[in-house]
Amino acid sequence: MTAWTRRHVLATADWSRDEIELVLQQGEAMLEVLARPIRRTPALRGRTVVLFFQEASTRTRISFELAAKALSADTTMITASGSSIEKGETLLDTVRTLEALGAEIVVMRHSAAGAAQFVADRIASAVINAGDGWHAHPTQGLLDALTLRTALGALEGRRVVIVGDVLHSRVARSDIHTLVPLGAEITLSGPPTLVPSAWRCGQLPAGVRYEEDADRALDGADAVIALRLQRERMEAGLLPSLREYAMAWGLTEARVARMRPGAPVLHPGPMNEGIEIDAAVAHGPRSLIERQVTNGVAVRMALLHLLAGTPAAEAAA
Ligand code: NCD
Repeated sequence: MTAWTRRHVLATADWSRDEIELVLQQGEAMLEVLARPIRRTPALRGRTVVLFFQEASTRTRISFELAAKALSADTTMITASGSSIEKGETLLDTVRTLEALGAEIVVMRHSAAGAAQFVADRIASAVINAGDGWHAHPTQGLLDALTLRTALGALEGRRVVIVGDVLHSRVARSDIHTLVPLGAEITLSGPPTLVPSAWRCGQLPAGVRYEEDADRALDGADAVIALRLQRERMEAGLLPSLREYAMAWGLTEARVARMRPGAPVLHPGPMNEGIEIDAAVAHGPRSLIERQVTNGVAVRMALLHLLAGTPAAEAAA
């Protein structure tokens, strides 16, 4: 098996397939830990994990917290409201504080693309990017890969559709960077105004194509990942109306029935039900949305213990 050599987890764009496989395998081992009556291992006892969330988050933040706790790490949370960030503390000042707190691993979410790299370049701790602006959300890409692999088996040649607001989505970028090396073929679908212009004009990354029409994109697909409409990142005028968006790209039962029988539906959350996904689909038999949450804890446990340098056997003991 490949040895783990990374100091940080900032983006998976330059990861090899073997590195992705290693994290997924460790994630599977962590799922076994999470299935036990006592979901806790001593792997990170006495180690400090700081969760630094400058941008809103529920799932990712709680998931990292549960992952760190399941490995018996000490955790400290810093969020924008109620911290000196509100008083205008610069990122560099905050970083120095994190270092002074003795953080061995800093998990960070920030609204600026590149923020995790900025911190990683200036701190002795390991840094995990929990989402930086539009740029990357590597742990989401990895948990989506784990979820799809558990549902479909090997992803080689599997057709995965990513539908919605691709332009503003760090999830879409990280999904591409994780699923393509595993052999999946990605079809992006969404309004042309919500797809990066180069991609819309055919200059797409290897393994990725764009099909504006959601029905055509979904025909015979093996899985679909719906993206949230990121209205907080959107300029006015990119969408005709939410109603028209939902009619053309919303995941309805009729639309998901175009995929292969039983093909799963994923969504990173938080969902705008009735816009990008109907409640009947989100909570229906094809939905793996809750599984994504559990798999998120497992993948984050895997990364924490890889970065802490704990042998897998010890972590799963
Ligand atoms: C995503 C994020 O924050 O990038 N959510 C998440 O991490 N579960 C997607 C989103 O906010 O739409």
